[in-house]
Amino acid sequence: MDERKKEGRYQRIHTQLEELTKKSGDPIARMATICAVLHHKMDHFFWTGFYLLKAESNSATEKLVVGPYQGPVACQELEPRKGVCWAAVDRSEPVLVKDVHSFPGHIACDSRSQSEITLPVKDSSGKIKAVFDVDSDKSGSFSEVDRAYLQQIIELVYR
Ligand code: SME
Repeated sequence: MDERKKEGRYQRIHTQLEELTKKSGDPIARMATICAVLHHKMDHFFWTGFYLLKAESNSATEKLVVGPYQGPVACQELEPRKGVCWAAVDRSEPVLVKDVHSFPGHIACDSRSQSEITLPVKDSSGKIKAVFDVDSDKSGSFSEVDRAYLQQIIELVYR
């Protein structure tokens, strides 16, 4: 999809999701709605979902456990501190990967994934609660346009 067409589509999706996410204050319900709308409207989204950052019981260790998603079946838990999702947590900022094969430690839940973008999802106090992850089955699918609009969209989860 060319970048101008992509921008127009993101603008319409953001407007729609702003309304839809008002219907429930529950973050999981909002995440599920965001996945469903984006996955079915963006041609380059092969896997669209959230990994929830959870504390292990009785320890200070954290884990990333799969939450609402659309697309092929995915890893339920991600190996700690490895891959593109954990990089978004550890850097506390979005990570854009044009070719997953060149990202050291990339976790391939599905071998068809070629490019990926991950963004930390923060609550109103700035604490990371989850990671939003989108995979494409083509390389170089994601750009600054995706990063900017997806950032606005995930801010709807904890607004
Ligand atoms: N590729 C991710 C794992 C999640 S799947 O893409 C759905 C990673 O490296 O963290």
